[in-house]
Amino acid sequence: MSELHPWVVGAARGALPEWAVARKKRRAHMGRVSALLREWGEGRGDDPRDVERWAAVGYLHDVLRDADPDELRVASSVPLDHLPDEVVHGPAAADRLRQGGVADEPLLAAIAFHTLGSPNFDDIGKALYVADFLEPGRKLQPKWRARLRDEMPEGLNSVAQAVVGKRVQFLIKKGRPVPTETFGLWNILARGRSWASASEL
Ligand SMILES: [Fe+2]
Ligand SMILES: [Fe+2]
Repeated sequence: MSELHPWVVGAARGALPEWAVARKKRRAHMGRVSALLREWGEGRGDDPRDVERWAAVGYLHDVLRDADPDELRVASSVPLDHLPDEVVHGPAAADRLRQGGVADEPLLAAIAFHTLGSPNFDDIGKALYVADFLEPGRKLQPKWRARLRDEMPEGLNSVAQAVVGKRVQFLIKKGRPVPTETFGLWNILARGRSWASASEL
């Protein structure tokens, strides 16, 4: 097992790399996401190294959230032109971390796809996706969010399915496209359920 990268070790206790672009309010959100992930990681009885990784993505996912999206596109070593402004900060952060020597692929995928979701998520990706959406600072539908938080960490898959389902329904209701990655995550989670429930239709 390789040692955790210093940026990951630092982020787990709220110390961000010097290239971070995140304002005060954003940092408060990141802190709440990180606290949830730490609590869930400990609740699962994960080893301390994994708990640190979970706590770290709580901070690192939005480490470039307040940077100018066009500047992020220019600075990136991977093409980001096809992505809308509000999505760019995830893959840009993952790229920056990778360039700096972070080689933890599940952690990088969690950060890169935290806005869209991904069918390739490991547990750390699902947990970040859920924590980002359910953190107690989000004001919309607080009871629904609190109920889902109560089902964590045991209910990781069903809670992730509820969250991505909500997101898909929202996009459809607005008449907006649903990104392939988002549908991919939905399908992976929904496939874990029995086909027998089709008889309820
Ligand atoms: Fe974000
Ligand atoms: Fe976030």
